[in-house]
Amino acid sequence: MIVIGTRPEAVKMAPVYHELRSRAEFDVTLCVTAQHREMLDQMLTALSLTPDIDLDIMKSRQTLNGVVSAVLTGMSGVLEKYKPDVLLVHGDTATTFAASLAAFHAGITVGHVEAGLRSWDKSAPFPEEIYRTMVDDIADIYFAPTELSKANLLKEGKPEAAIRVTGNTAIDALKLTVRPDYTSPDLDWAQDSRLILLTAHRHENLGDKMLSVFRAIQRIVESRPDVKVIYPVHLNPVVREAASSVFGEGNDRVRLIEPLGVIDFHNYLKRSYLVLTDSGGIQEEAPSLNVPVLVTRDVTERPEGITAGTLKLVGTDEETVYSSIAELLNNRELRDKMANSPNPYGDGEASKRIADVLSKKQ
Ligand code: UD1
Ligand code: UDP
Repeated sequence: MIVIGTRPEAVKMAPVYHELRSRAEFDVTLCVTAQHREMLDQMLTALSLTPDIDLDIMKSRQTLNGVVSAVLTGMSGVLEKYKPDVLLVHGDTATTFAASLAAFHAGITVGHVEAGLRSWDKSAPFPEEIYRTMVDDIADIYFAPTELSKANLLKEGKPEAAIRVTGNTAIDALKLTVRPDYTSPDLDWAQDSRLILLTAHRHENLGDKMLSVFRAIQRIVESRPDVKVIYPVHLNPVVREAASSVFGEGNDRVRLIEPLGVIDFHNYLKRSYLVLTDSGGIQEEAPSLNVPVLVTRDVTERPEGITAGTLKLVGTDEETVYSSIAELLNNRELRDKMANSPNPYGDGEASKRIADVLSKKQ
């Protein structure tokens, strides 16, 4: 059984789902908690994922306690009924943590995809750093995307025999989505300028930090006539209020749009001059698409991209964000150097390795 709840889990588990389903030895059940509703459904359709079970738990302005308890209760019934041999969970979300805990209570083997990432800071990403660590304490099989994530697991005493370095399934997903002939009205609009793609949703950035990032972008747009910004706004009402307080409805060079389907998003990303984001998954995808990433966080659990040169941590201070964007706009060579640094997150074959590990034929 695969369980997913949010947009990024769907993107990164879709290749695993399709790989397992393509092998006759697996009987795959897909359970969605719908911790995200619209943003998950958008991904399910685009990635041909058909849930067998839907817990439909999302509430507007939901709390962490609310999500964790709804998933724990829901999954307890599901696991009792289906009794899967293995529950596959992904990453660090509330769905992932609560579903793993329910499996642990039921004595069901847990396989953790994207295991071992650490920022070593329990306040960032919050609550995800601790959720991921707790899932690793519960898990029986570890799919570590990089050698560094494997080393983190070994440092915590996890048995080496239970860990396989697979690469990140996010890179597998790009094979399904990026198209050379892709066009869209937004990209036509941005064609004559340098496009900055913006996303924001991290819990610890809600409030003043997010506002200061948005103000930096607004100043860039005001001072640079050659720049246009596309910002697909997360459906969290707190994010939407912050976005409209700085950008209003948008203007002739800032487009506020609804969350993009993943095929659109990956193709928009590919055409961007740079991406400014606090997302986890985008830090992994952009290097594969040769786009530099300015990360609006103070720490990251994905430091491989910083070492490789594709990511730069810029925090959320308005002045620093402004000058970091300006630097890449002023220095095309620096921008291209970041863009062309090696992608450290995988080769697009992660889901095959995961299926091989799960195979009884091995
Ligand atoms: C969650 C994950 C985070 C992940 C992010 C991906 C946790 C603790 N956080 O954070 O790790 O990076 O998803 O985007 O699991 N909403 C809708 N419709 C949707 C989705 C969300 O209306 O389709 C609104 C709801 O009001 C909801 C709010 O957004 O209360 C926040 O959603 P939630 O899943 O609780 O947190 P995220 O910030 O999205
Ligand atoms: N994404 C998308 N549409 C958007 C924004 C993001 O399809 O409008 C995709 C993105 O390519 C990546 C995933 O959603 O695969 C990242 O989700 P998010 O940033 O919400 O979560 P995180 O990765 O931070 O957990």
